[in-house]
Amino acid sequence: QTAPRSLWASRLGFILAAAGSAVGLGNIWKFPYVVGENGGGAFVLVYLACILLVGLPIMMAEFMLGRHTRRDAVGAFVQLEGKRSPWIAAGWVSITAAFLILSYYSVVAGWTLDYVYRALRGSFSGVPAATIEGMFDGLIADGPRQILWHLVFICLCLGIVIGGVQKGIERWSKILMPILLALLALLFMNGMLSKGAWEGIAFMFRPDFEKLTAGSVLEAMGHAFFTLSLGMAAMITYGSYIKRNEDLLGSSLRIVGLDVTIALMAGLAIFPIVFSVGMEPGAGPGLIFKTIPVVFSRIPGGFVLAILFFLLLSFAALTSAISLLEAQVAYLIDERGWGRKRATALLAGLAFLVGLPTALSYNSLAQWHLIGERTFFDSADLLTSNYLLPISGLLISIYVGWFWSGSEEKQELVAGGSGWVYPLWHFLIRYIAPSAIAIVLFFKMRETGLFAWFGNLF
Ligand code: PHE
Ligand code: NA
Repeated sequence: QTAPRSLWASRLGFILAAAGSAVGLGNIWKFPYVVGENGGGAFVLVYLACILLVGLPIMMAEFMLGRHTRRDAVGAFVQLEGKRSPWIAAGWVSITAAFLILSYYSVVAGWTLDYVYRALRGSFSGVPAATIEGMFDGLIADGPRQILWHLVFICLCLGIVIGGVQKGIERWSKILMPILLALLALLFMNGMLSKGAWEGIAFMFRPDFEKLTAGSVLEAMGHAFFTLSLGMAAMITYGSYIKRNEDLLGSSLRIVGLDVTIALMAGLAIFPIVFSVGMEPGAGPGLIFKTIPVVFSRIPGGFVLAILFFLLLSFAALTSAISLLEAQVAYLIDERGWGRKRATALLAGLAFLVGLPTALSYNSLAQWHLIGERTFFDSADLLTSNYLLPISGLLISIYVGWFWSGSEEKQELVAGGSGWVYPLWHFLIRYIAPSAIAIVLFFKMRETGLFAWFGNLF
């Protein structure tokens, strides 16, 4: 049943593909606005702790599961525990999360495509900040326009995943990721030189623990998973293409380091602008769409930079989205024996359909509340990042920490020369990660959220 797999061509190729999956809208679009909504500094600290103590060990565990079994997320558990094992649920939760996330991720990626188009037409040049802010509100109220871009983005994913991910994406990542970094560095410097710089830095790094609720701790945990592409079958699947002698610790550290750096730079680029122009840091999902074009409309060369920025953001979204699609496609290929074309076409089509209510969240379906007072868009986001990802992370850490054979895990680390880290890693995955996730989930469940959602169904 398990056909011989094509593996990543080189170590760099693997790191770039995995970093391409990790670095995406989560870093540049989502991180700044969730920091803004959750009060800044204290949230950032909790997020960093979650990344190091929970995210990093689980990333290594997902790579180990994938590489050891050479299967998709469901298949990995089937191979280790047999067809009837309850652990297979962990694979299913992951794949379900990947499916739901792709549907709304693509809508947001569509917004970035729309902004590329606007930048090309020069819509941001010489207009006041308020007009630019209004453009975003206009866009999310325009269902057909969002659906069109959502369709374009899904088709791009489809095209790439059908053709096989490795070659094109590996090559393009190498060229485009450095440009994205350079552009971010520029925006970061712009932020540091602006008059809101100090306020922005203070907002991000001065912890005010009064503002921290159980909800924001869960949000930080969920975002740590989201940003590192964990709990979504993506890293298990990408892990299944890693060579035996690759160093999992070194690679994971590089991927995590890059992801965190880019998120922090995005925050430090955006909050100073937010404070300079007197915007609300808690402005929500529109935050970067309202701030970045304002900066570009004011600096020389801004016309070109705006095009580049949204183009590269679209590219970052694309390398993430294809890993979400690939994780689901791998299941149909590995477990159901489907061909790649048929699997990709079906799943991309489904992602398009399920994304429709998200695209209509702020107009025709605005009155349709799923979780509490939330729109469909917010509900899909909340359900996945706040619940499905932590739950899948919890299952994976309990399985790997308590039920998978220690000698096989150690082998995975020894093969790449980092066997020494085994005791530390094992301690984190066995005790710290599951208890941290369980505690946070427990408090959040008590606080409302999911219970209220069940209440709403009746
Ligand atoms: N990590 C991506 C981001 O930060 C999102 C993503 C999640 C991509 C899961 C793939 C899998 O934008
Ligand atoms: Na990320």
